[in-house]
Amino acid sequence: MCGIIGYIGNKSATPILVQGLRRLEYRGYDSAGVALLQDGAITRIRSIGKIDNLAEKLKGEKFSATSGIAHTRWATHGGVTEENAHPHAALGGKLVLVHNGIMENYREIKEELQKEGIECVSQTDTEVLAHLIGKYYAGNLRSAVQKALERVHGTYGIVAMHLDEPDRLVAARMGSPIVVGGQEDEYYIASDATPILPYTKKVIFLADGEIADVSRHGIEICTLTDKPVEKKVEELDWDENQAQLQGFPHFMLKEIFDQPQVFQDAIGGRYDLGDGTARLGGLNMNEEQMRSINRVIFIACGTASYAGMVGKYAFERLAGISAEVDVASEFRYRDPIIDEKTLVFVISQSGETADTLAALREAKRKGAFVRGIVNVVGSTIAREAEGGTYIHAGPELAVASTKAYTNMVAVMMLYALQFGRSRRVSHATGTRLLEAMREIPEKMKQILAQADTIKAMAEKYKEYEDMLFLGRGINYPVALEGSLKLKEISYIHSEAYPGGEMKHGAIALLSPNFPVLAIMTKNSLYDKMRSNIEEVKARGAKIILIATEGDERAKDLSDDVIFVPSTMELLEPLVNTVALQLFAYHVAVLLGKDVDRPRNLAKSVTVE
Ligand code: F6R
Repeated sequence: MCGIIGYIGNKSATPILVQGLRRLEYRGYDSAGVALLQDGAITRIRSIGKIDNLAEKLKGEKFSATSGIAHTRWATHGGVTEENAHPHAALGGKLVLVHNGIMENYREIKEELQKEGIECVSQTDTEVLAHLIGKYYAGNLRSAVQKALERVHGTYGIVAMHLDEPDRLVAARMGSPIVVGGQEDEYYIASDATPILPYTKKVIFLADGEIADVSRHGIEICTLTDKPVEKKVEELDWDENQAQLQGFPHFMLKEIFDQPQVFQDAIGGRYDLGDGTARLGGLNMNEEQMRSINRVIFIACGTASYAGMVGKYAFERLAGISAEVDVASEFRYRDPIIDEKTLVFVISQSGETADTLAALREAKRKGAFVRGIVNVVGSTIAREAEGGTYIHAGPELAVASTKAYTNMVAVMMLYALQFGRSRRVSHATGTRLLEAMREIPEKMKQILAQADTIKAMAEKYKEYEDMLFLGRGINYPVALEGSLKLKEISYIHSEAYPGGEMKHGAIALLSPNFPVLAIMTKNSLYDKMRSNIEEVKARGAKIILIATEGDERAKDLSDDVIFVPSTMELLEPLVNTVALQLFAYHVAVLLGKDVDRPRNLAKSVTVE
């Protein structure tokens, strides 16, 4: 959602802040702004719309500032206006603040401030917080921030700057990430590591209730009550190049094409072909504990929950353990039945999704084993889970998740195998699964090589207003994911159904104007799926099939076919989903949509 970047050092701050904002664009925003400290004043420049609008305003002005803060805003309190854009100011412009999160008690504090004669010019909760810090300011920004935050209910990731303390930025975190990094005489503060990555890979992640007091000489971390905190410096394993377009027109396409490589990063060193098993050290469970598990729950949101659904099939089939999937926003409020024999996997690309984090805490409270399957190193979910595995997908900057999904599935396959081998999976089956997994990158490449054919198909279907995705068994989550990709980036209405369920309702929608994309690969449910597609054909709907190479009968049944290489049934999502990602991508591009930053969506959903 919103993004923060702050800089204090000896270089010109403006280009660093603007470049930082650009690297935060992927999170989604509707306005942006900077505050620069120079020549005895703080200058604020803000603009609605794209960062280019802000950059345009900054052009031509001479800025000598070597410190400043900047923000991309995603409107929550108050509309998309320049006045509501951050940074917000207090004390007649001497104090400025950027803020991610939501201050729940801002109304009562606003009233209190109004009674004291302090008027807000914006509709935001952030401006109220800026004035509250201003109220407590008595020459020391850190203690003013501490005093103000003690009164705040809600979530925040903030950075504040005061004119009278030019060698200081003060950041704090409660529920909304803050990362600090730097060296010698220059330091950076941001809401995630992406804008810091060009300068350093060594970062500190603040925990809730911590303050970072940052100057040109170093970083001090303390609590809200001013107790010093020793922090671990984490080394990010992300390659800066991974956060570049590398010649691709969009991050989404680049990330789709990253998949063969990052899939290898997800599984490399995590299995033993000789023993036919996986070795995921982060599980942190001994054999006895592993055997005691009688239920697995996957908790996640959106695409990550569809990856979890594949995990459910894998756990039931390989490990023989009853498994379920729940979207985090439901799980956290449904009073789930959990005990010490339950293993909960929380799955998240960002590691910051508010609902997933709340569900994780709920599962921990109830005594389950809780493990994370997370992409962003050092993120809150990664830190709060009692173990787990990084999926090593590298930075995923397009809002629509692609490579994180396949790597989540890869890691869950390994977990299911590890549990399966300590229960009922034979050595031969384990080895076969691993060998098939090792072939996945080549199979992904075969689909990527069909990008032009898929684009031609997208051209044919782009004008339809609705679409139905069908899949069965392990390909039902693939249908869900394909449908989500299409709707979120092209805004075409689409739904996904299990093939066998269609006749219980959705079939009423079918007409020549309502195409169906069905996954009919050669697996144990092939004949069943085929019958479902016959039902579709009888209603005159256009049919696109995802079919296994060599299945010539698929052509007779459909208007268009994307042929995919065959693999073990459990692994099909790793291959079939890639075709659907490309389809959604090309439809959206052909329709002229902003593929990497679809409307209304944010990359990291840090509010409930
Ligand atoms: C869809 C998408 C979202 C996310 C969801 C969870 O393409 O990206 O549905 O999957 O918001 O996000 P994470 O995985 O960061 O918890």
